Amino acid sequence: MSDYKQQAAIEAAKLVQPNATIGLGAGSTMTHLINAIRSTPGLAGSLTVASSSFATRQTLLKEGFNVKESGWLAQLDHYFDGCDQFDWRLTALKSGGGVHAAEKVLAAMAKQFVLVGDATKRVDRLTNTYPLVVEVIPEALAYVSARLKEYFNPIRSELRLSDKKDGAVITERGNFLIDNWFESFPEPGVLNDRVSVLPGVLEHSLFYNMAHKAITAGPDGIVIYTKP
Ligand code: 5RP
Repeated sequence: MSDYKQQAAIEAAKLVQPNATIGLGAGSTMTHLINAIRSTPGLAGSLTVASSSFATRQTLLKEGFNVKESGWLAQLDHYFDGCDQFDWRLTALKSGGGVHAAEKVLAAMAKQFVLVGDATKRVDRLTNTYPLVVEVIPEALAYVSARLKEYFNPIRSELRLSDKKDGAVITERGNFLIDNWFESFPEPGVLNDRVSVLPGVLEHSLFYNMAHKAITAGPDGIVIYTKP
């Protein structure tokens, strides 16, 4: 079977110029992208790379990349990341890893934020297949859940629990994650506006109007979308 994520990653690697400073997100497509970059002679060693993902960072270090903390960088040439879904506006939903706060910072500092994945990621409108993940400081857990219910009812809001420990998942910053399942996915602009301003919310997993480009691969080949 064709590995469309790998094909999209090979296409994305063509954007990486020698000596660039880039960011890489989480997921299997990013592992393909690392491999594609490594297969271009002389490229990997010339790059400075930051990552929002523990797993991606470990792979980069193992492969000898020059990895830098994102807190010391103000701008990236490119930030590449996968997603759960993206729509016609290249608004993306990223839910799985729970590291969207760090991902959003890298996406914001990039001259070009590029989504990469197989063709199933492209949808006309975001659907309720995936939750909106909201990172909240512990003090705001009940307050933010109540506001989300008020604004977007019917909604199912669940504190993300660990399957490796008895208790909640705690983020790198000591916060909680709330997974929010909508009956029908709200208008992304409204969702972004309402959730972003709630006191106690660090970040949510909707990347509203942030990406500049998306590269997908599927049965119809490579498709490159640019921000409308
Ligand atoms: C993690 C993400 C990932 O980028 C998303 O799950 C894509 O993963 P994959 O490349 O394996 O399809 O958003 O929060």
